[in-house]
Amino acid sequence: MTDKKFIIKKIQQLKEEKNAIILAHCYQNIEIDEVADIVGDSLYLSRQAAYTNKDIIVFAGVYFMAETAKILSPQKKVLLPRMESGCLMADMIDINQLREFKEKHPGAPVVCYVNSSAEVKSESDICCASSNALEVVRSLGAKKVLFVPDTYLGNYVGKQLPDVEVVTYNGFCPTHLRILPDDVDKMRKIYEDALVLSHPECHSEVINRSDFTGSTTQIMNFVKKSKNKKFIIATELGVKERLERDYPDKEFYLISNKAVCPNMKWNHLEDILNSLVNEEHEVFIDEKIAQKALAPIEKMINLKV
Ligand code: 13P
Ligand code: SF4
Repeated sequence: MTDKKFIIKKIQQLKEEKNAIILAHCYQNIEIDEVADIVGDSLYLSRQAAYTNKDIIVFAGVYFMAETAKILSPQKKVLLPRMESGCLMADMIDINQLREFKEKHPGAPVVCYVNSSAEVKSESDICCASSNALEVVRSLGAKKVLFVPDTYLGNYVGKQLPDVEVVTYNGFCPTHLRILPDDVDKMRKIYEDALVLSHPECHSEVINRSDFTGSTTQIMNFVKKSKNKKFIIATELGVKERLERDYPDKEFYLISNKAVCPNMKWNHLEDILNSLVNEEHEVFIDEKIAQKALAPIEKMINLKV
């Protein structure tokens, strides 16, 4: 048996023995899919974390995802295989910066992108993911809304809701911002009959040049339904790799070799195995913060989109 097969078998055994589930984000190294129970985007994984009856959740993703799982399932042990797996966007706003932002716009409800810390969530009215940000903002029925931390996702939503003033914080995803409008123009010239699919964390000039914009799952569903055979993928590498695997009769081109989130790539099969063997690294959250952060997260997952 090869080393890889041996590791996969050990992981499967330990999952059974310890009543564990492995949740993996689509940006993870694709080898993780071989042991993951569920692979998906942020919203889908949050819902799975809330409803699982397993005792241990191993979160193959970044820190805010494991933290969100812990808030939703406080009685469960939530493990993040590599503690280095942070999200640079989530780190761009802390609770004090959010309080200052709120003071400048008194009375406006705060929509907090799930890519944020538990503390920031605890000071927000409702969370959203990229797949339901539009519906979340609309659901508030407010004339003015504060959106943190991602200015690009917030502006993308605001453009589609002309009756709502969406005031955004100045956070951003460094990975998606490495995708340049020029990259779209160059790739379109090379692959004339390909459709450009982008993530709403991209720069607005990239979004304006795209044929379709959506979350990871929405992009995958678009490809599934599309009659087109060629696609330029303007989001993280993991999406392109999974599309290539799942649709061998179609062609996919990554918009830029810089579209890689290094923090999503820490996990390898060995790290998942280590996490299960040693039950590390367990995520702990201050109880008061976790209690306050629960309501905005629950509002997000309970919304029927
Ligand atoms: P989605 O999973 O909602 O597409 O978000 C992408 C992302 O940046 C996750 O960190
Ligand atoms: Fe954070 Fe961007 Fe990486 Fe997602 S892709 S985890 S938003 S840094």
